[in-house]
Amino acid sequence: MMDEYYRYEYEDNGQYCYPHTHILKNKLDIRDKEELFKVEQELSSARYFEIVKRPIPGDFSLQHLQAIHRYLFQDIYDWAGEIRTVDISKGTIFCLTQFIEIEFKRVQEWIIQNNYLLDVDDKEVMSKRLAYLIGEINMIHPFREGNGRAQRVFIEYICKNSQHFDIDFSKTTKNDMILASKESSVLNYEPFEELLFKCLVEI
Ligand SMILES: Nc1ncnc2c1ncn2[C@@H]1O[C@H](COP(=O)(O)OP(=O)(O)OP(=O)(O)O)[C@@H](O)[C@H]1O
Ligand SMILES: [Mg+2]
Repeated sequence: MMDEYYRYEYEDNGQYCYPHTHILKNKLDIRDKEELFKVEQELSSARYFEIVKRPIPGDFSLQHLQAIHRYLFQDIYDWAGEIRTVDISKGTIFCLTQFIEIEFKRVQEWIIQNNYLLDVDDKEVMSKRLAYLIGEINMIHPFREGNGRAQRVFIEYICKNSQHFDIDFSKTTKNDMILASKESSVLNYEPFEELLFKCLVEI
């Protein structure tokens, strides 16, 4: 069960994992999968609460997303905030490493063209825009692990910055998130629209 969302395929390389395992090398040198999963959750969520209260400033670039990831996973991985150096997939093949920067540039340009979603005050329209955005970022999957958490903070910052909405991802489930992500990978953004509509709060 847990393997489903924890593991990536093609990860049997010595670079990120302990030899002959699927356990990511980590600063705490935890070599038990369940234990690492638990500790990683705890430490990243403690960091999450810090940067929700005091957002990391940035321009919604890849560097901004990297700063978020670095903050969230600083206690766990040496490569926190760094773009992955291996190609990964979860059934879905994510962006090849050599295209991550250029693809994210395209995303950032979309954000700028849409004026950082500052002009959107309709919840349905906001759901549609954010569905596209999170779907695109998810397909890039810039990091070896922790993409979901980093991209949700990025989306929260987009909302905060818009001054019309807040977003509360606790109103959805991990399972719905995965289903919506899978659908968006085949360009069906409807499940993400529905999910985001549930999470968006008008302010
Ligand atoms: N088959 C799939 N196709 C596309 N996206 C997927 C698939 N399975 C999972 N995802 C997405 O990948 C994200 C998980 O990525 P990753 O494990 O790198 O980060 P995470 O921070 O551990 O994520 P989370 O907290 O959301 O589980 C999920 O949030 C989901 O959006
Ligand atoms: Mg994960």
